[in-house]
Amino acid sequence: MQKFVPLLLALAALNACANNSASTQRAATAAKVSAVANGRIIFLTGKDSQGFRINAQRPPLRTSCAACHGADGAGGVHLPGGAVSADLRRKALAAVKPAYTLLSLERAISTGVDNQGKTLNPVMPRWKMTPRDLHDVAEFVQTLH
Ligand code: HEC
Repeated sequence: MQKFVPLLLALAALNACANNSASTQRAATAAKVSAVANGRIIFLTGKDSQGFRINAQRPPLRTSCAACHGADGAGGVHLPGGAVSADLRRKALAAVKPAYTLLSLERAISTGVDNQGKTLNPVMPRWKMTPRDLHDVAEFVQTLH
């Protein structure tokens, strides 16, 4: 037994390090917030549930989805250059075929290509965020009605 003590101590120390690492703690915090709840926070504030700000290919004119599409996603906001923000509520998104899916929403949000393969007005930012945040905000958009 005696000769295993240093090994056990080393293992205990390693374990303590792993538990204290920032990424472990971040993952633990993230796990507490559901996908839709995280997506809602991003939509309303432009930051995810852990406080990371979402970015875009070019500096966005406004920093949250809600600032252009409205907190309820109804859109209709007139923006510089004649752009009008889209209605993101379920009925409006279903009106143009093929209907948006989670994947095509993620594509529109991150690349500006809509469900028909058309390029959206550049006033709609081409968002850059983690795959998880992109998934969560797209999932939240699907709950707007
Ligand atoms: C600076 C204003 C602005 C911000 C901020 C913004 N959008 Fe948009 N968005 C627009 C405009 C304008 C359009 C319409 C573009 C067009 O008609 O070509 C649009 C279109 C869209 C579309 C396509 C809808 C359709 O009918 O095809 C989706 C989806 C969308 N936005 C989601 C989002 C999400 C999610 C966010 C936040 C991560 C966001 N937008 C932030 C301005 C904005």
